[in-house]
Amino acid sequence: MNIALGTIPFGTTVGEDDSFAILDRFFEAGGTMLDTANNYPFWVEGRSGDESELTVGAWLAARGNRDEVFLSTKVGARPTIPGDTTLDSAEGLSAPVVARAVEGSLRRLRTDYIDVYWSHIEDRSVPLDETLGAFDELARQGRIRSAGASNVSAWRLERARSLSVSRGWLPYTYVQLRHTYLRPRPLTRPVESGHVLATDDMLDYVNAEPDLTLWAYNTLMAGSYTRPDRPIPEIYDHPGTARRLAVLHEVSSELGATPNQVVLAWLIADGYVPIVGVSTMAQLDEAIGAADVKLDDELRTRLGAPC
Ligand SMILES: NC(=O)c1ccc[n+]([C@@H]2O[C@H](COP(=O)([O-])OP(=O)(O)OC[C@H]3O[C@@H](n4cnc5c(N)ncnc54)[C@H](OP(=O)(O)O)[C@@H]3O)[C@@H](O)[C@H]2O)c1
Repeated sequence: MNIALGTIPFGTTVGEDDSFAILDRFFEAGGTMLDTANNYPFWVEGRSGDESELTVGAWLAARGNRDEVFLSTKVGARPTIPGDTTLDSAEGLSAPVVARAVEGSLRRLRTDYIDVYWSHIEDRSVPLDETLGAFDELARQGRIRSAGASNVSAWRLERARSLSVSRGWLPYTYVQLRHTYLRPRPLTRPVESGHVLATDDMLDYVNAEPDLTLWAYNTLMAGSYTRPDRPIPEIYDHPGTARRLAVLHEVSSELGATPNQVVLAWLIADGYVPIVGVSTMAQLDEAIGAADVKLDDELRTRLGAPC
């Protein structure tokens, strides 16, 4: 199943038993890709940011299935001041930070390797060489198997990949950004600090690079496609959105699928990996159902018409 499961609420708003049940159902349905970070959810009052990794680690240990899971976690955006709920004191991406952070993640996740290790943010105060060299060192030690960059601009990602290749280092082969079916208005920025949108330029770059895979977050906009209690974020407020939503609803009813499922199927058909964040079994089942929704060329053309 080409869908990754996000784990932000696991161990906090979703307790351990419910988290285990969601992880079990995802795994039984053929899901293998998990996404966490060394700081989820530090922005919630009273939380350290260890909770998500600890819960995923406890589940992996309880089920003994580490080698059947494709595990990803991140470094760079953990606060260095305990209790700071902003990114102002983020640890960044210096070599000592990367070397130390991976130990914490491996311990909490109860494993000795990470399948994709992401730089969570850009840290322009550190030379790219230093960060990329630190990632490469972890690969040589067998602690990480591949590298990804999250919340990065297209030019920096291209520069980083070229640099790694020229040095014979492990290059970033994954990129994680905010991306969904609706397109944002130009020159807007998400209100969530740290979120970076997949620009047209970035999508063009990803599509041109066969060894680069996009994992998309906020794919269902926290439920806004279907929930009246979740207004569509302001960054999508432009005339094209109404047209895209109309086509989305038409296609959903033609296929007998939900709009959320068509959004996920659309991203998968583009070759991207949608990350889904769920807090209930019903939400998970709806997402899993998207793996069976097939969009033929005609439907993809209709859905993808310029807006
Ligand atoms: N790299 C980064 O910087 C970054 C940033 C953000 C997220 N992420 C990753 O992406 C994952 C997903 O996070 P997200 O917040 O962006 O995801 P999202 O899909 O935008 O929102 C998840 C929330 O949407 C609601 N929802 C999910 N499925 C639904 C459905 N079928 N019907 C109605 N409502 C539904 C639920 O809200 P309720 O729980 O309130 O019901 C759920 O908790 C995270 O766990 C994390 O792994 C990465």
